[in-house]
Amino acid sequence: MKTRILLDCDTGIDDALTLLYLAPLVRSGEIDLVAIGTVHGNVAPETGALNTLRVLERAGVHDVPVAVGAGRPMAQPVEFADEWHGTDGLGDIGLPEPAARPADVSAPEQIVRLARANPGELTLLAVGPLTNLGIALLLEPRLPRLFREVVVMGGAFDHHGNITGHAEANVWHDPEAAELVFAAGWPLTLVPLDVTHPTALDGAWLDRLAAGEGEVARFASRILEFYVTAYHRSLGVRGAVIHDALAAMLAVDPSLGEYTERPVRVELRGDRTRGATLWDRRRYADDGDRPAVRVAVRADAAAFQERLLSSLL
Ligand code: BDR
Ligand code: CA
Repeated sequence: MKTRILLDCDTGIDDALTLLYLAPLVRSGEIDLVAIGTVHGNVAPETGALNTLRVLERAGVHDVPVAVGAGRPMAQPVEFADEWHGTDGLGDIGLPEPAARPADVSAPEQIVRLARANPGELTLLAVGPLTNLGIALLLEPRLPRLFREVVVMGGAFDHHGNITGHAEANVWHDPEAAELVFAAGWPLTLVPLDVTHPTALDGAWLDRLAAGEGEVARFASRILEFYVTAYHRSLGVRGAVIHDALAAMLAVDPSLGEYTERPVRVELRGDRTRGATLWDRRRYADDGDRPAVRVAVRADAAAFQERLLSSLL
């Protein structure tokens, strides 16, 4: 059965690379990109929607509805990630307005509407904070039974966080929503930092992209520059982790990953640990009625890097 994706994102440089990875698969008919919703996170959701449309237009993907979603988390103030993605979310390179406009529906309503209309058919791929998914779960209690699969980029277990020492960005931006999503009992695959970081692109990969002459490759190189500079500032090496594209690739081809199944919880109270994802690794652990989720623990980094590059080239 063809993968039919409903994407939720906060576009964002690695979100943009994810759209560029998916675009050739959409154009060739290998996958369906049914609709997209945006959420606060890297940028405000209105900015994220315009960025999403900008990227889709450059990638030659038209007629995918892009709906604006939640502008703030459920229980904390909103914060953006300018230092990683630029104030406009795409590296501040001065991109023009897109031709298309966002859809006339909110992202959580769009999730509910599409799930009801296509029961058991869609893969919900979430690569931003989980506020829209949390709201959709509150709007439609049957939602967990209406998706074929849910794939989320988020969390960190044996890897340190990337916002605090313990919390990964997508969970940290809305821990209450993440907790709703991890407790919902749907077929959920989580793609945490533990598995995205080992797929980091290095200088040689960036050089191969920079040598690409196509419009998409040039665009990808331009927006990546800001992200690569931020990465260098924080980690001291030339490279980039395209977290969201790995989640997308595992949604399209799960055989590139290895997985374990465990219940996952989000720390909601700790002064220093709020937003951390926790699992109980004891073999005899009893987590009550908390359902297990599938957590990616390894991915084929070489295949990821080659497939991403070939989409961009
Ligand atoms: C996640 O945080 C965002 O900045 C990225 O787009 C990605 O979704 C990585 O922690
Ligand atoms: Ca993202």
